[in-house]
Amino acid sequence: MVKLFIPGPTDVAPEVLAQLSRPMISHRDTEATELQSRISRNLQKIMQTEETILLSGSSGTGLMEGAVRSCTRHRAAVFSIGAFGQRWFELCKSNAVPADLFAAELGEITRAEDIAAALETGKYDLVCVTHNETSTGIANPLAEIAAVMRRFPEVVWCVDAVSSLGGEDIPVDELGIDVCITSAQKCLALPPGLALCSFSEKARRAANEVPSERRGLYFDLLNLDRFVREKKCQYPSTPPLSLYYALDHQLERILAEGLEARFARHLELAELTREWARKHMAIFGDQDHLSHTVTCIDNVHNIDVPQLIKNLEQRGYLISNGYGQLKNRTFRVAHMGERSRTEMETMLAELSAVCMELRH
Ligand SMILES: Cc1ncc(COP(=O)(O)O)c(C=O)c1O
Repeated sequence: MVKLFIPGPTDVAPEVLAQLSRPMISHRDTEATELQSRISRNLQKIMQTEETILLSGSSGTGLMEGAVRSCTRHRAAVFSIGAFGQRWFELCKSNAVPADLFAAELGEITRAEDIAAALETGKYDLVCVTHNETSTGIANPLAEIAAVMRRFPEVVWCVDAVSSLGGEDIPVDELGIDVCITSAQKCLALPPGLALCSFSEKARRAANEVPSERRGLYFDLLNLDRFVREKKCQYPSTPPLSLYYALDHQLERILAEGLEARFARHLELAELTREWARKHMAIFGDQDHLSHTVTCIDNVHNIDVPQLIKNLEQRGYLISNGYGQLKNRTFRVAHMGERSRTEMETMLAELSAVCMELRH
């Protein structure tokens, strides 16, 4: 079996996969309520939030769509540092949510002062930020951005933490994030098909001011929030119960590992990968803001990347090509989810061997 070092989906532990074969229950029974309540409580611990947790039978993009539709009263400011920041903007445009795009050069971060300058115009009541831009391997400085956001208490702050939550510390309440979104198939190491977010009191107040026809239906976060709070963690439509079993089990495993240990493991693997990259190639982008969960390696030796990926796969390891414009110019090694130091070292040794083959 090929080991995945791609930025999602990540490998799922066999005992978590086994949860998928458990028998069905009625999603309206107390058993389902208890399952969903336990999941919410454990996610609150991981996200370090007292706010409501919303689960969604969709990938992360669904909740991103829900966030901009449900919480933009007048106009959104979208700060992009790559393909997934651009996605926030596409979601606004395709849902007729008024928005402006503030795009940084690839490899750069969103600067807190640029957010401040945009918000000082008074034009925006919602801000979208990508925490960990999977396409460039750059992570935005959430603490610096949080300091700016505090100066604008009426503005709703949405963070795409799809490829970092569960792998890096994101203290949602301390930072003041209103909607923090992630997908199951990345650092949480679960099968795809499930997304989740925190939903703050401020986000709820904002969504209450958005007309219901603009909020849509399936991804109306206000409606999900109302259901969850009033019906004790029940959802308006049938939830993916099998995935919830897996999530429930995996959250216990994550908490048993310990959050600090888990975040430290991700950083340790990132550092190993960076060391490899600096020795053999280079790392793309702003060296002071490198991602803890995926490293974007600059292909300075102009190696044939598809061949590199193919040869490495034959040795049992899968990595990813660069994304979009960065395809072949870079390639990406993910270190998220379940991966251990030994697995990382073994894979990097194989990667060195494959690079040597291709350079000769
Ligand atoms: C940073 C980031 N945001 C959003 C997404 C989209 O998530 P999903 O595929 O779960 O909709 C991805 C997927 O790779 C991502 O890496």
